[in-house]
Amino acid sequence: MIDLPLLTTKVEAIARAAGAFLREEQQHFSQERVSLKSLNALVSDVDKNAEKQLVRDLQEILPEAGFLTEEGTITQRTSHAYYWVIDPLDGTTNFVHGLPIYSVSIALMHNDEPVIGVVYEVGMDECFSAYKGGGATLNGTKITTSPTDSLADSLLATGFPYYDFSGVAGFQKTLEYLYPRTRGIRRIGTAAVDLAYTACGRFEGYFEYGLSPWDVAAGILLVREAGGQVCDYQGGNAPIDSKSIIATNNGVFEDVLKVIQVSMGNG
Ligand code: IPD
Ligand code: CA
Repeated sequence: MIDLPLLTTKVEAIARAAGAFLREEQQHFSQERVSLKSLNALVSDVDKNAEKQLVRDLQEILPEAGFLTEEGTITQRTSHAYYWVIDPLDGTTNFVHGLPIYSVSIALMHNDEPVIGVVYEVGMDECFSAYKGGGATLNGTKITTSPTDSLADSLLATGFPYYDFSGVAGFQKTLEYLYPRTRGIRRIGTAAVDLAYTACGRFEGYFEYGLSPWDVAAGILLVREAGGQVCDYQGGNAPIDSKSIIATNNGVFEDVLKVIQVSMGNG
């Protein structure tokens, strides 16, 4: 039997160590280190080296687990009962432009459900952490989603489309509806942190399409363990490969789901 609380503590330390590496590298980063995986999908040696460090450290604490990682520095194995889902640097575009908001995201999956989720936001030195059934914490202190139940009092987060433009028209409709009916919309550039900030009540909710499993696996558990709700744009249970996400507190969930489904043409 895996001791989830103990393992979570170890994952937090591993995420912080990778974050320290990222922080150090950003001090002397230069653009020649950036290459393109595909349209607007940036990567650098820093992403890859951070991933290798994470894989090494996570292998040590749970040798039987497989891996699904953004940079593919290890053979991807998700057929194991347990596997890690890793984004070594979520917010790569922020990182390469010198913006101090980016994160390390680590989830442990068991039978394809996240059972540990850790998001370490490097710039503010904030470690968001959860294990299944154990609630969610920020630097060791319990967090919960916001109690707000009105859109008019809500601050929401999203990600602007940057490579998959198939849903732009529906996305613009969603924003047009929300601009005058909320306190505002933020685009901070790291999905893992959007979810972590929703978990601790800074955002009432977050939505985006065009995502990958490593962007959301840890954050989904954070929001659920903090008392919020998560689904995909179809209203399903948001498996980590569903590519779209709606994550909110309890108070505005129905409203946000409805506007997205109507605007995107799903409802
Ligand atoms: C990206 C960030 C961004 C989101 C993108 C992700 P990356 O991850 O999370 O906020 O809008 O969809 O791909 O490329 O910085 O690891
Ligand atoms: Ca990412």
